[in-house]
Amino acid sequence: MSKNIESILTESRVFELSDEIKSGFGLSVEDIDAMRKDAAEDHVGFWSKLAKEKLHWNKPFTVGLDDSNAPHYKWFTDGELNVSYNCIDRHLETKSDKLAIIFEGDRGDVEHYTYKELHDNVCRFANTLQAQGVEKGDRVIIYMPMIPQAVIAMQACARIGAIHSVVFGGFSAEALRDRIEDAGAKLVITTNGSRRGGKTISLKHAVDDALEKGCEQVKRVIVYRRTDDEVPMHEGRDIDWMEAEAGMSNYHDPVAVDAEHPLFLLYTSGSTGKPKGVQHSSGGYLLNAHLTNEWMFDLNDDDVFWCTADVGWITGHSYVAYGPLSVGATMLMFEGVPTYPDAGRFWQVCQDHGVTVFYTAPTAIRALMKFGADLPNQYDLSKLRLLGTVGEPINPEAWMWYHDVIGKQRCPIIDTWWQTETGAHMIAPFPVTPLKPGSCTQPIPGIDAVILDEEGNELHGNEGGLLAIKKPWPSMIRNVWGDDERYRSTYFPLAGKPYYVVGDSAHRDEDGYFWILGRVDDVLNVSGHRLGTMEIESALVSHPQVAEAAVVGRPHDVKGEAVAAFVVLNVDIPEGDARDKLVQELRNWVAKEIGPIAKPDDIRFGTNLPKTRSGKIMRRLLRTIAKGEEITQDTSTLEDPTILDQFQQKA
Ligand code: WT7
Repeated sequence: MSKNIESILTESRVFELSDEIKSGFGLSVEDIDAMRKDAAEDHVGFWSKLAKEKLHWNKPFTVGLDDSNAPHYKWFTDGELNVSYNCIDRHLETKSDKLAIIFEGDRGDVEHYTYKELHDNVCRFANTLQAQGVEKGDRVIIYMPMIPQAVIAMQACARIGAIHSVVFGGFSAEALRDRIEDAGAKLVITTNGSRRGGKTISLKHAVDDALEKGCEQVKRVIVYRRTDDEVPMHEGRDIDWMEAEAGMSNYHDPVAVDAEHPLFLLYTSGSTGKPKGVQHSSGGYLLNAHLTNEWMFDLNDDDVFWCTADVGWITGHSYVAYGPLSVGATMLMFEGVPTYPDAGRFWQVCQDHGVTVFYTAPTAIRALMKFGADLPNQYDLSKLRLLGTVGEPINPEAWMWYHDVIGKQRCPIIDTWWQTETGAHMIAPFPVTPLKPGSCTQPIPGIDAVILDEEGNELHGNEGGLLAIKKPWPSMIRNVWGDDERYRSTYFPLAGKPYYVVGDSAHRDEDGYFWILGRVDDVLNVSGHRLGTMEIESALVSHPQVAEAAVVGRPHDVKGEAVAAFVVLNVDIPEGDARDKLVQELRNWVAKEIGPIAKPDDIRFGTNLPKTRSGKIMRRLLRTIAKGEEITQDTSTLEDPTILDQFQQKA
C-alpha cells in the first residue's frame, strides 16, 4: 500500500470552519441537508427544478429524465439551448465590461478579455468555422496550449453545435492521430507552438505528422500564431487563424441544439484497449458544471477563480472553459509551468491578479511543498479564500501544508472527487462542511453514491468496497463515442443492476464521509493523469526489440504513482552502456507513441514475465518488485520462479 494511502487511513482530525467563513457563504449546512432531502424524495424533480432555474433554454423541456434506453440515460430531452449563449451572451446585459478571462503567458505577458470582448472573439471564430464548412454535429479537434484562443475555439464550436475534442498538447502525434480518426474529425485547430518554462514547443509539427498517414477526412487545419516560429503551411489545407477570421462579424446567432446534443468528446484511458471517447451532453453537462462552480467554489462577482488544469483534461472543461463562464465569473488562465522562472510562480500569479479561489492537484502541491514555505511567504496571498484540490487522494501532509502555508489556516480545502465521465464534482464539501484531511467528504445533493462488494451488494458499514453511483445524474457520460457496447460493459458491468461503477475503491466512515483509496483496475494515476497500463504495454511492444511487456504503478512522493515497466526482449539483454541506451530508447519510444507523461520511470528486463502455469501475468508480484520490497507472497504457482531474481535488478 502506498505511503500516502496509509497516512490517509490513519487520519482522524476534523476541521470546523470559522463562523466568518460560513456566514459569507449563501448556503448553510441546514440548507444543504434540505437539498439532500429534496433530492432523495424526488430525484428527477430536484434536478429539473435546478435546470430550469440555472440555465437559459431556447425551448423549455418537459421531460426530466428519459430512462427508456437505460443505461443510456437522457436528461431534459425535449429542451433546446445553446451552451455558448449560456456562458457568454446571457451575461452581456449586466456584465459586458466585467472581466471574463485574465491571461498570464509563460513570459509574464498579460491579456484581459471582458465578457463583451470574449463574445466578439467567439462570434468571429464561430463565423470563421462556419465559413470553413463546419456544421452542427461535425467533430473538431482542438490541439492547443493554455491560451485564451483555446477557450474561444471551444466556445465557438459550442456556438455552432460542432462537437469538439480537445487533445492535450502533451500528447504525441500518434495519440493525436488515434483521436482524430476515432472522432472522425474534419477540422483541426492548433497553434504554431507554445511557450512553457521559458522554452518554445512546437505543436503544428505533431499535427502534420498525425495527418501524414490516414485522417483523410481532415480538410482544414486552422493555425493560431502564438510564437514567432515559422511553420510549414500545407497549401489548400492549412489556414492562418487571423487570415481566416479577417472580415468576420462580431455577431453570431447561436445555434440552439437539443439538450442531449453532444457538446464534446474527451478521450480518457481505461483498463483495456485504446482510450475511450467520453461523450458529454449539452444541457445536463452544463447544469452540473454551472452548479458545482457555484456550490463548491462559491464564485461571486468579485472573485478571481484560477483552476490550473489544462483544457486538455476534463477539469479544464468544467472549471475553465464552461463552468466559470456559465456562472458569470472572472477566471484566470496561465500558459506556463509552476516552476518557471522559479517555484514561486503560482504564488506570484495569485498575488498579481488577486486570485480568490485557487484549484489545483495534489501532485502540484507536493512538488511545491518541497521548496518550503519561504517562497509562498514572499507573496501576498491574503485575497485567497477557498482552495480546491482534484485528481487523486490528497495525503494529509500535503493537505496541512496547503491549509497552513497557502491558506494561512483561513481557507477551506475543497477536495473534489469526480472523473472525466462524471462531468463535474460528485463527492465534495461545500465551503461550510466540516473537513477531514484526505476525505472528499460527502456526495453533493442529487448524487447517490454507494459502496458495493464484489457481487454488487451495497455495503452499509465502514468496510471498503467498490464506489458506485446508484442513480443517473445530468452530467454523466452519455456514451463511449461510437461504441455502445463498451459503454455498457465498462460502466454498468453488473447485469440487471443500475449502478454506474466508478473504478475506484473507497470506504465511508461513521460520519458518512467518503475516503477514496485508489483505482481497482489497471489504470494508473500519474500526477493526476490517467494512464492505462495496457496502453503503455502496447506502446512498448510496438518497439522492434520488445517481445512482451507488463506495466504496473509504484508509489511516488510527488507524482502519486510512477510507471514501472517489465520488459522481455526478443534479443539478448544488453549490458552496461548498451543497456542504459536501450532504456533511454524505450522511454523515448513511449513518449513518441503516447506522450512524455507516459514515459516509464523504471524499466527492468527479464527473459520472461512472471506467469502462472495457466499463463496469467502475476502483477501482484511485479508491484512488490517495483516498490523494491521483499516478496512475501506465495510464488508456488509461478511457472519459472528464477525470473523474479532477474527483474529485481533495476536497469
Ligand atoms: C480518477 C478520475 C476529475 C478530474 C481529474 C481526473 C481519481 C480524482 C480525486 C479526489 C481521490 C480522485 C480517481 C478517479 N481522483 N479526483 N479528489 N480524491 N481520487 O480525472 O482522469 O477522469 O481521473 O482520478 O481515481 O477515478 P480522470
